[in-house]
Amino acid sequence: MSIIFDSTKESWEAGYEAGDWNFIEEPIEKNRSAVIAMYCAHLRPQGQILDVGCGTGTLFQVLSTEQQSNYLGIDISAVAVARAKQKKNIRAIAVSAEDFTTDEKFDVIIFNEVLYYLDYQQTLQRYKDFLKPNGLIIISMYRIPEISERRQVAKLWRTTATLFQSLDEVTIIGKHQDAKITWDVRIYQLK
Ligand SMILES: C[S@@+](CC[C@H](N)C(=O)[O-])C[C@H]1O[C@@H](n2cnc3c(N)ncnc32)[C@H](O)[C@@H]1O
Repeated sequence: MSIIFDSTKESWEAGYEAGDWNFIEEPIEKNRSAVIAMYCAHLRPQGQILDVGCGTGTLFQVLSTEQQSNYLGIDISAVAVARAKQKKNIRAIAVSAEDFTTDEKFDVIIFNEVLYYLDYQQTLQRYKDFLKPNGLIIISMYRIPEISERRQVAKLWRTTATLFQSLDEVTIIGKHQDAKITWDVRIYQLK
């Protein structure tokens, strides 16, 4: 199993109910989503977008109207998805990434701060099948200060490099609750 942080559906529901994740609606958290939205618009302007672990729909909010009409978000948390659905015209489903299956094919699949909680080897391998030919995978991961998790994220990046062709990468540095935080956003294409 290649899971970096253990979590359960229950822990996500409780966290959202308690307001622990309210901060993801803050502008600093939207910077990386704005970068992801820009890459989708630039590389696949009319592309079908799948946002795995969409949370409350933070990425959806920064997409253009055209991108929004091509968007599907999925998240394990029914509480998060109910909040996402307060955003006009969003298509979002409460389902785990493990249980989600579809006949649809997507131009872009996004893992925006979610791969820590999934078996990333298995997930990336499985989600490849949901991509159209030349489809894109966009991944955002923050630089975890703890050394053992940092090593696991480095391993994850090595895995993605074996599965996909790297197109670009962007690093975003911001301030989160008075501490510096760094996110890596990497853009890949199906090999
Ligand atoms: C750190 S939040 C990021 C939310 C959103 N992508 C954003 O950037 O605002 C991680 C999200 O992953 C979801 N998640 C965790 N495990 C999941 C799983 N197995 N399947 C689908 N979603 C999952 C959580 O419910 C949570 O909404």
